[in-house]
Amino acid sequence: MQDIDLAVIGGTGLYRLAGLEGAGEHRLGTPWGEPSGPVRVGRLRGRRVAFLARHGESHALPPHRINYRANLHALKTLGVARVLALNTVGGITSRFAPRVLGVPDQIIDYTWGREVSFWDGPGSEVLHAEFAEPYDPPLRAAVLSAARSAGLELVDGGCYGATQGPRLETRAEIARLRRDGCDVVGMTGMPEAALARELGLAYASVVIVANWAAGCDPAGAAAPPITLDEVLGNVEAASAALPRLIEALLSA
Ligand code: HPA
Repeated sequence: MQDIDLAVIGGTGLYRLAGLEGAGEHRLGTPWGEPSGPVRVGRLRGRRVAFLARHGESHALPPHRINYRANLHALKTLGVARVLALNTVGGITSRFAPRVLGVPDQIIDYTWGREVSFWDGPGSEVLHAEFAEPYDPPLRAAVLSAARSAGLELVDGGCYGATQGPRLETRAEIARLRRDGCDVVGMTGMPEAALARELGLAYASVVIVANWAAGCDPAGAAAPPITLDEVLGNVEAASAALPRLIEALLSA
């Protein structure tokens, strides 16, 4: 099979990849079950690119029901080596206001009860993936350099706190994440990043800030509760830059 230059995993509000031409639909079964939906493989800037909607193309899967193992296994089977994950998040620290894009460099995992490893079950090896740098440094650097060449602003670095969801967090939970050093909070960053590492995939995330996390709006208690429409509006506005970013990444 011809190699794929890049796979993009789309998150909330990101169910198609703009500009992906001639996309063939791959519906793969895996030893770990069914992926979230078809993997679409087409051409972008003359390069072969795969796209998978993490929550399914009609957003039917909540974060804790996503089969992260099947998704990554399917991408690996198709010949993917690099994965760019798009993750919608809430902003905790001041650099991560709504509509900001960022490339985090650390993760703290607060999720529970998810299938976290391929090295699982009878007969499998017991292995421990190196994960001090949870995102692939060369891919992160390539994304940041692509942003510079496309004239886009991306926050470099930051810690992603992965929560279980599907509910949003309490103010106390977000205060704890802030004390722990988290800059953004989302529900899908783990175990995806760790599973990618187990498969030897180069994996990096671009976070899209949809809202202030609970209690983080600088307007304080006066801030009205955010509506779903506003959240999706912020994701849509910030995502407008993503096709240019991905094209610049493929042109590098
Ligand atoms: N918390 C967790 N996940 C999220 C949020 C949030 O505030 N916003 C978007 N994804």
